[in-house]
Amino acid sequence: MEIIADIASLRARLKYETSVAFVPTMGNLHAGHVSLIRIAQQHARCTVVSIFVNRLQFAPHEDFDRYPRTRSNDCRLLEESSVDVVFMPDEQTLYPVSQEFQLLLPVMAETLEGVYRPGFFRGVATVVLKLLNIVQPHVAVFGEKDYQQLQIVRRMADQLNLPVQIIAGETIRAGDGLALSSRNHYLDAIQRQEAVELARHLRQIRDSIASGERDFPLLEQLAIEKLSQRGWMVDYIAVRQQDTLLPASADDSRLAILGAARLGQIRLIDNFLLMLQ
Ligand code: PAJ
Repeated sequence: MEIIADIASLRARLKYETSVAFVPTMGNLHAGHVSLIRIAQQHARCTVVSIFVNRLQFAPHEDFDRYPRTRSNDCRLLEESSVDVVFMPDEQTLYPVSQEFQLLLPVMAETLEGVYRPGFFRGVATVVLKLLNIVQPHVAVFGEKDYQQLQIVRRMADQLNLPVQIIAGETIRAGDGLALSSRNHYLDAIQRQEAVELARHLRQIRDSIASGERDFPLLEQLAIEKLSQRGWMVDYIAVRQQDTLLPASADDSRLAILGAARLGQIRLIDNFLLMLQ
């Protein structure tokens, strides 16, 4: 495995590779990231993983400085996972000058996470576009865990004619159902026990819809009330169309049930997908 920090060396290393698959990350790697790496490895001869905590996607009050940076553990995990190349640029390398050019995002970026994290998806899309331009992979793999991010990246690749295939990896969960996330490390023991309730309530909505319930606003409201009673600060619980992320109606068949809520200072997001016949 090669660890590369600068763009010229990365391009030289990849110059003669005929198929490259790419998994962008912010590090603090867990089994969710590893599952994306496994998918990448099935699609190309050479797998590149990037680790870069992208300041552009953090609001001033968010956890950029606190974001867990676990470089040596990450490299050990990547080595064990037989990754070929790790791209670990520093901030000067990706942002040598202030990033004046940024993307104008579709309305899809203004809903859900976009309401609570204004500018977040612009930061994500900008860094993902830069990384795709640097790595020039044939395939890039993103997790369904961040479903709105995945859909925005898909649209960006499509509408900007990027020569890359975007592939989705399903959400990897802990034994109790909590979606793995770097932010889970912030949870104390009591919060960790409670954290699974977000997934549980989203799954309940999915199961109710699968059993025929079609009053989506009622299901959303009930889940919000129950989580609030348990001490959560709920940002949203929403039943949406998978492809547009617009509110779903009773005759939509491809649904995403998404939620974001805070336990104390820690904000968790999760979602479940549902395909109706
Ligand atoms: P990060 O949070 O490190 O996530 C990197 C990738 O891992 C994303 O595609 C994310 O959806 C996926 N992922 C996270 N948890 C997962 C889980 N439990 N199961 C499956 N996949 C999971 O997302 C980012 O970084 C950044 O926004 C990035 C795209 C790298 C741009 O900076």
